[in-house]
Order: sequence, then C-alpha cells, then structure tokens
Amino acid sequence: MMDLYLRVGSVTDKDVMLEVESYIIAFALHCFDHQPVKVHYYMEVLEVTPLIHCCPAILDGWTKTDRPDSIVCTQKCPVTLVSKSERLTVLGLCSILRATLYKSSTKDSSNIASKLLGFRQGCLMAPAEASVWTQFCEVDMPDALKAILEWHGDRWSIPIALLRFDVHLSLPARIHNVRKRAQELSLCDSSPSTNVLGLSDNLHTYAEGPDMVLSDLILFSLFSVFRNLCGTDILNQNIPRVMEWYRKCVQVEPKFNKVSEMVLKVKKLKFSKVEIPTFEEQSIYKRDPRRYKPSNRIFTRQEDVDQVLGMFPIDVMIPYTEKEEKGYQLEWNSLSRHITPHDYLPTKRLERKMQQLENMVSAVMNLCQPGSIIVDFCSGGGHLGIILAALLPSNTVILVENKEESLKRARQRAMSAHIRNLDFYQSNLDYFDRPFDIGMALHACGMASDLVLQKCISHQASFVICPCCYGSVSPANSAVYPQSQKFKRYISGSEYIVLAHSADQTHDEEHPKTLQGRLCMQAVDSDRLFSAEELGYAVQLSRMTPPGSSPKDHVLVGIFSKL
Ligand SMILES: C[S@@+](CC[C@H](N)C(=O)[O-])C[C@H]1O[C@@H](n2cnc3c(N)ncnc32)[C@H](O)[C@@H]1O
Repeated sequence: MMDLYLRVGSVTDKDVMLEVESYIIAFALHCFDHQPVKVHYYMEVLEVTPLIHCCPAILDGWTKTDRPDSIVCTQKCPVTLVSKSERLTVLGLCSILRATLYKSSTKDSSNIASKLLGFRQGCLMAPAEASVWTQFCEVDMPDALKAILEWHGDRWSIPIALLRFDVHLSLPARIHNVRKRAQELSLCDSSPSTNVLGLSDNLHTYAEGPDMVLSDLILFSLFSVFRNLCGTDILNQNIPRVMEWYRKCVQVEPKFNKVSEMVLKVKKLKFSKVEIPTFEEQSIYKRDPRRYKPSNRIFTRQEDVDQVLGMFPIDVMIPYTEKEEKGYQLEWNSLSRHITPHDYLPTKRLERKMQQLENMVSAVMNLCQPGSIIVDFCSGGGHLGIILAALLPSNTVILVENKEESLKRARQRAMSAHIRNLDFYQSNLDYFDRPFDIGMALHACGMASDLVLQKCISHQASFVICPCCYGSVSPANSAVYPQSQKFKRYISGSEYIVLAHSADQTHDEEHPKTLQGRLCMQAVDSDRLFSAEELGYAVQLSRMTPPGSSPKDHVLVGIFSKL
C-alpha cells in the first residue's frame, strides 16, 4: 500500500482551489482504479501560486488529514507519494503518476493503468532533465497554464506550448514496437523501412503515437482547463490538430471527459484580441537531430580562455589541501558484495570507482556526528550512500535520485544486504526539502553540483561534493554565475562559462590542455567554495588520492558549525 498526500489550497462546500500539479494528479486519479494507493489531502494557505477552481467532487472518496511532519512539500511540489514499508518517497508529477499506475496495473488487458504506462511501461520514464518530452508534459504545459491563470488584460496570446503541441501532432510518430505493429496491421511486406515510415506517418493519433498513454492523460487534464478558459472557437481556428486529438480522446476514453465535467469550475476569460506568437517549430521528442544545430553549439576559443585566465590573480584561487599519498582505505572484504561495486562495474572502472568511494567516505566520516542525517544527492545506483549506511548503522542516510531505474537498483542492493538505515527519494534534487546535516554528491553533473551546494547552504548542512561535467553548466534561474562575490569582482557570467568549458579539458596527464583544464577546474570550484565561505562555512579543496582516481577528482568540503 502506498499513501498519496495532496496539498489543497482551500475547500468549502462549493469550491476547491488546487495548484496545477495537484489538479493534474487529482484529475488523473479519477480516471483509473488506484486501489493500492490511498489518497489523503491536507489544506495549506497558498498565497502566490495560481490556483484552479474545481468542484468539491474532485476530492470525493479521499481522506482529509493534517499534513504529517514527514511530508515536506516545496512550492514546486505539492504532492508526495510514500511507501512506508519500502522507505520510499516519490516526488514530481510524472514520477508520482507512473508509480501510482505501476501499483494499480494488472495483467488484465482491459486494465487502463497498464495501458497508460505504454510500451514496456516506459511512458514518461525519463526525468524532465533528461527528456524534452517529459519536460514538455511536466513543466512546459503546466507553466503555460499557470501563465494564463495569472493573466490580466484584454489582449491575449495563445501559449507557445499549445502551438508546439499542435505542430508535434503533425510530425511522424515515435513508435517503439513498430515491426510488431506492422505485422499486426498486415502491412509488413518486403521493405520494412517503407512500412516503418508509412506507419509512423499515419499514426500520430495520440500524443506519443498510435496508443493513448499517460502523456495523453496529463495533457488532456491541462487542455480541459485551457478549453474552458479560451472557448472552442479560438482553439479550433488556431490549434485544429490539438482539438482533433482532444475529440479523439473523448471518444475513446469517455471517462476523461466525464471527469473534466465533474471536477472543473473554470470560467471563460474575457479578451478582445488574440495574438499568435511566432516560435521555432521543433520536435518535442528527445532525439530529433534537427534540434542539434551545429551553429547553436558553443565553441571555446583558446584566446578567450587565455584572456579570462588573465582577468583574476592566480592567488585568488583556493589552494589544494595536501592529503596522504595513499589515502583512506576501506575494508572492502568486510562489506556485503551486494553493496560494493564489484559486481556492477567492469574491471577497468572498478579500481578507480573504489578509490573515489574511499575518498568520499573518508571525507564524510570526518564530518559525521552520532545521529547526523546524511544525504547522497544524485546517488545513481547508490554506490556511496549504501556503503556509508553500512558503515554508520546508527545514522540515517537518504538517497536522492531522479532516475527511476537507478533508484530501483539501489533499493534492491540495500534490501539484499539487509541495510535498514536508508531512506530513498525518487526525486529531482530541487524538490527534496527534508532537514539534514551533511549533503554529499559524487560526480553530480554540471549544474547539479551547484544545486547540491545551494541545497546544503539553505539547510545549513555541511557538504562533500565531487563535481563533474563542468562544461555543461549554464546560467539559469536556479544558478547565477559566478556564484561568489569574490569572483564577481573579476569576471562576468559569460567569462565564467568559458572557464567552465575549459575545465572539462582534463585529459591524461601528458595532454597539452590538461594543465590549463585543471587550472580552470580550480577556478570554478574556488568560486563554488567562496560562495559557501561568504555565508559562514569553513571550506577546503583537495584532490582525490592516489592521483589518477578520476579526471574529475576535486573534493569540495564545507563545514557549517551550527553552534
Ligand atoms: C554521474 S551519475 C553519478 C551517480 C553516483 N553518484 C555515482 O557516483 O555512482 C549522476 C547521477 O545524478 C542524477 N541526477 C542528475 N541530475 C539530477 C537532479 N537534478 N536530481 C536528481 N538526480 C539527478 C543522474 O540521474 C545520475 O544518476
């Protein structure tokens, strides 16, 4: 049994006000039998978020509760799914709906939950950070709706997300099991590729192709609100393919429409003029080669690197703390084989992974106090977090990872080794908001290292971070570069990006660019550490031992004294 906690803005006899994500999940749950998932709702006063006006029927059959202390909902994440027995928490719209469908699915071919999960239960499996399509369903479309809900004035502009969806429906479908389908439709003749194309061209009936899946349900719930707000005339004129898709969904799954009529109280907006914005027509599927335009790639020129490296005094960087050549060594033989990397990595990578883990474990053990709560951010399959939990049985270790498959592997490993002091969060790291004392991350890619750093700072937690993929950082709302006041005095955001790109040029020791790459790595990580030092942390930068453990071998330590 799993428990789902839904945050609700307000409830009266006649009205319920819901945040967009709460609404989508509530809508979806009325469309299939979710018996293994018990739904609870709790009220919280919400001042800033746009809310959707619903009928009380949207909460029918669910239990009103006070928010349990263990449920910490961030602004971005108003719904939490918990499996107490598995010590698992799931956060994020698509992950929650996938986990609920998974629990509710059966082998029965008429089971709608199984159908919505799609081919090999893969619909919307990749996290939004890794998939353009999940990003579209989980972020872009809900954001477009939030923008309309907050709209005032009499000129109204059709959301680009809706126009993109309309274009998307005109493009060839992505069909996974195309050969089987072609056989089923008796289309398979001597030229399979022709059939594949023919089939693809014809079958973009639903959001992902010929079958109705979870993405259709999410988009349907959103589109029902757009339809109420805008009226059908404007939508028929400007996004005819979306309207056709909508009618097809209503026809094939009348339940969707019944739910929409039962729950929505949203009224039509009044506007005098509608504008159609221009936008770039590109696919919303992940691997559309047209998205990767060479002209859009950023190339770092040597003269730019030279110039930026000359803009700040070299002694502004944090020097490396010397460590013993051999470093800390774990007693690998004393650990269960389930939790060491031996059976999970090829021999070539194994030794280096063991060295990386020894460096991280040693740094965290130095900071750990009895009872400290430790979080392994971007835990992947749990190499680091599970070993620490085994070594520190009286501490709690929390694994936070947004890839379903990786976290599943971590849970299986911990279960096989009977390690119980672990909690698992299938979650984007920015949704995670439980209190903790030490945050760690091994090879958190690009900006993820900065998000981990920010998360630790906001919780006044100490940290041990080994960053990687320096070149993939890019300025966004959540991270502004440089991060420290110290570096802001010398370089701008675009100059910082030059440093970050060059920091990835750490090839083997003999390579002519390696020295420069290392210098840039040191500059980027000095900036990261200064940003923590400026907020009261004692900081340290060191390199893993022995040399060669990893090309990305920096260990950033920040100690926050809560006294
Ligand atoms: C290079 S792997 C490192 C995995 C693990 N720490 C290790 O050393 O084996 C980075 C991991 O971070 C996860 N990740 C990246 N961005 C994330 C985010 N914003 N929230 C949660 N996990 C994230 C990825 O899914 C991936 O599993």
